[in-house]
Amino acid sequence: CGIVGYIGKRDSQAILIEGLKKLEYRGYDSAGIAVFTDNGLEVSKAKGRLANLEGKLQGEPLHGSVGIGHTRWATHGKPSDVNSHPHTDNSAKFSVVHNGIIENYLDLKDELIAKGHVFVSETDTEVISHLVADEYDGNIIEAVQRTVKRMRGAFALGVLTEFEPEKLVAVRFASPLVIGVGKGENFIGSDIPAILEHTRDVYILDDGEMAILTRDGVELMTTEGDAISKEIFHVDWDLVTAEKAGFDHFMLKEIYEQPKAYRDTMLGRVADDGKSVQLSELTMTKDYINSIRKVHIVACGTAYHAGLVGKTVIESIARIPVETDVASEYRYRSPIITPDTLVIVVSQSGETADTLAALREAKRNGARVLAITNVVGSSIAREADDVLVTLAGPEIAVASTKAYTSQLVVFYLLSLYFADTLGTKNTAEVSEILAAMQELPEQVESILEQALVLRDIAESISSHPSLFFIGRGIDYPVALEGSLKLKEISYIHSEAYPAGELKHGTLALIEEGVPVIALVTQEELYEKTLSNIKEVKARGANVLGIGNVGYEEEANKSVDTLFSIPRTLPILTPALSVVPLQLISYYASLALGHDVDKPRNLAKSVTVE
Ligand code: G6P
Repeated sequence: CGIVGYIGKRDSQAILIEGLKKLEYRGYDSAGIAVFTDNGLEVSKAKGRLANLEGKLQGEPLHGSVGIGHTRWATHGKPSDVNSHPHTDNSAKFSVVHNGIIENYLDLKDELIAKGHVFVSETDTEVISHLVADEYDGNIIEAVQRTVKRMRGAFALGVLTEFEPEKLVAVRFASPLVIGVGKGENFIGSDIPAILEHTRDVYILDDGEMAILTRDGVELMTTEGDAISKEIFHVDWDLVTAEKAGFDHFMLKEIYEQPKAYRDTMLGRVADDGKSVQLSELTMTKDYINSIRKVHIVACGTAYHAGLVGKTVIESIARIPVETDVASEYRYRSPIITPDTLVIVVSQSGETADTLAALREAKRNGARVLAITNVVGSSIAREADDVLVTLAGPEIAVASTKAYTSQLVVFYLLSLYFADTLGTKNTAEVSEILAAMQELPEQVESILEQALVLRDIAESISSHPSLFFIGRGIDYPVALEGSLKLKEISYIHSEAYPAGELKHGTLALIEEGVPVIALVTQEELYEKTLSNIKEVKARGANVLGIGNVGYEEEANKSVDTLFSIPRTLPILTPALSVVPLQLISYYASLALGHDVDKPRNLAKSVTVE
């Protein structure tokens, strides 16, 4: 989602719309603005692209010099006019735009309903506008402070009230927000591009900070009410760099967003005591979960690779047999689909034609379909019986990174959720996996800190015409994904093999100097994989091992170069081991001078079969 806000002397409508246009890359399925007009606080919103809202405003403009705007990427509640922001309370005197997730919104909503509040949307945001109204007793700053104290989650807010039309209040808690400082006018934005046209002087809010904007100034304080002072950050980026948050490419930005994507995808889905998974969005009953006899996972491309990891994860944690299929094959092999088959379709975009067709085929055969997708209002999300959203945020680069890793997180959560009902893991085992999952974001950060090491490796690989990826067990699907990533953006030919299978033919292609990337993260398969590494070494291969911290001594005897990922549970390693492979692909593509974000012949979302 994206937020903008304006307080000044100019007509705000055009400024808000222009700001929203700059934020559209963050996702769009609806948009809206709220402006103080001569009639009070007025709201206009429309489903679909921003152009729909623009069209609506052309007919019925909102004139006024204070306003907030929002472009939505649905998380709670489908894209629709009523679910669009800004949201208001029942008196229509308060208006809120919000980016992020409020974990405890259902509890807050129940409490407000009991007090007589009437809700019109399915969103968590509407709860905020009601809560601010409920807390208001003449001071909007204090009302917002009391409101955020009651909310759990990640959010950034822009708040207006008709009672104090000279103020725009903004808050940040784990969702980005910047304040633009102008002359006689001030701005808020989810990020710098939204306001860059008007000012290059910004305050970047940190978590737990708020800003009170008037026409003539910006007051900064913590949400506890303590005044703070901050340096103004002077932006010297051009607009294109600003959209990439200073990164050279969207792909790199998205690789670096993975710790946040992990946190967001887990947010609100792990019980406070860390002992169980709660997936309140699922409509499956315990009886239904007990009745599942097999799972089919169906997807394309990178999502298919996530599905291959998902197979191992579901089978080992929930002990349900799983088959994973490429969507374009699934329909035509007359799969045995029975009412006790759960079909899981995985799709970042939710629009891939092959995957959608497979979903329809599964439903026609009486299966229940669960979609794992990054786009709430997508065709696949609409047609599935259940949806689990990956909260990776919009992914722009054609080569998928953060959507893939978020899909893995959803598979872990889903398996643990099933395990709870099926009794295949006890509470201690579930808690152990959940605790290890909570460490993943920081562990990814520690891998990202070593990007330059991976850049050097990528540069030496980039002069080779062909290479191999090998791995055993759950390392194998990661090898497939590493190989795909490299092919997609560097155009270097590569193949991924189960490490033990290489000797049954493809070993013939290993000769002096051929690079082999070997994943060796599975402790119980260590020795086996190391002997496969020795087989390729004996034929002259140059081996990069992706291993685990703590096992360097053993691995170093067999590989030429070793890159170690932090220690985690064996089942969770894909969530870490893919990250160095993503960075190697990125830097290889860069070294070869290719268009990283838009590789030749490929499209982000393929809507033909
Ligand atoms: C296209 C993209 C791939 C993607 C695949 C599936 O081929 O180039 O990167 O993995 O579609 O996309 P989906 O949106 O269904 O995950």
